[in-house]
Amino acid sequence: MKKTVLVSGGAGFIGSHVTVELVQAGYDVIIADNMSNCDTTNYEGVCAILGYKPLFIKMDFCDAPAVEKLFAEHKIDAVIHFAAFKAVGESVAEPLMYYKNNLDSFLNVLEASRKSGTNVLFSSSATVYGEPDRTPVTEQSPRKSATSPYGNTKQMCEDFLRDCVAAYGMHGIALRYFNPIGAHPSALIGELPRGVPNNLVPFITQTAIGKRACLSIFGDDYPTPDGTCLRDYIDVVDLAKAHVCAVSRMVEGRMEEPYEIYNIGTGRPESVLELVQAFEKVNGLKLNYRIAPRRPGDVTEVWADPSLAQEKLGWKATRTVEETLASAWAWEKHLAAKAAE
Ligand code: UFG
Repeated sequence: MKKTVLVSGGAGFIGSHVTVELVQAGYDVIIADNMSNCDTTNYEGVCAILGYKPLFIKMDFCDAPAVEKLFAEHKIDAVIHFAAFKAVGESVAEPLMYYKNNLDSFLNVLEASRKSGTNVLFSSSATVYGEPDRTPVTEQSPRKSATSPYGNTKQMCEDFLRDCVAAYGMHGIALRYFNPIGAHPSALIGELPRGVPNNLVPFITQTAIGKRACLSIFGDDYPTPDGTCLRDYIDVVDLAKAHVCAVSRMVEGRMEEPYEIYNIGTGRPESVLELVQAFEKVNGLKLNYRIAPRRPGDVTEVWADPSLAQEKLGWKATRTVEETLASAWAWEKHLAAKAAE
């Protein structure tokens, strides 16, 4: 019997890649998404890659009766919860919108999962570590007080899951992603930022294609080797595979603790300048960029110690940053070709 995984937010950037990897690993997937931050591009791409259409349900996870109905109508072995708002700056301007959406939706997922005995995988973030005292960070590194409502919702949702697991005999995993970048090698699914991108790689690819005039590198006076910030850029397909490992561990009853947390990163720090130069080199182009003032709220450096995921999940990142940056560029060109049709 195939196991069924519900992917909330499955039409988005990470959710679409996870859907592909889950189906290719033999899972049935139900995608549920309110399409508040995406169009049908990624869902269509998923269907094209897989050669069939996974069940798609348009719904909002803040709608408790709808969530209850979904869980009642389907036997769901595990749910992966992506459906959330994710723009740091917007969360500072609209905290209530972020708290209502990101917390309510997850509480509804937890309630329904509790009733139906469903395993829960929560998409958390390295943002919970804030500015770490020591790098790389392990899962034992202290969480720092959140610097944005968005970051706060990640911490709170981790705590909701921990407490529900402890109280109700549930099983849950939180995956803390570092900086997800890149696209599927088919170039049929990828990141679709609305408006001006906040994140580095979409800004790079949009500058390279001519949608943006110039990339601003936010600060070159940090205490790092080249003065720009250090991050752990994790390929989205590698990241998606980590979800398959985590889901299998849950549904096959291999968890050692009922609540587990894993860092999902490469373990390799990369500076903003190094990333820009790698992008130029692998794609054979010159990028228009300038050094700009620091962006408020940025941490100097954070990267993962991913050894626990390797040991317990049998997962590690495999794609090189060059392959990933080539895939991001292929995706941007695919979008441009589609727009020109
Ligand atoms: N950067 C630039 N120019 C840009 C965009 C980014 O120089 O146009 C730099 C940033 O200053 C930072 C690095 O590129 O040094 C990475 O920035 P991103 O915005 O791509 O990613 P962040 O590390 O800021 O974001 C990550 C996660 C978020 C999380 C955030 C918390 O992607 O989900 O950390 O700070 F909320």
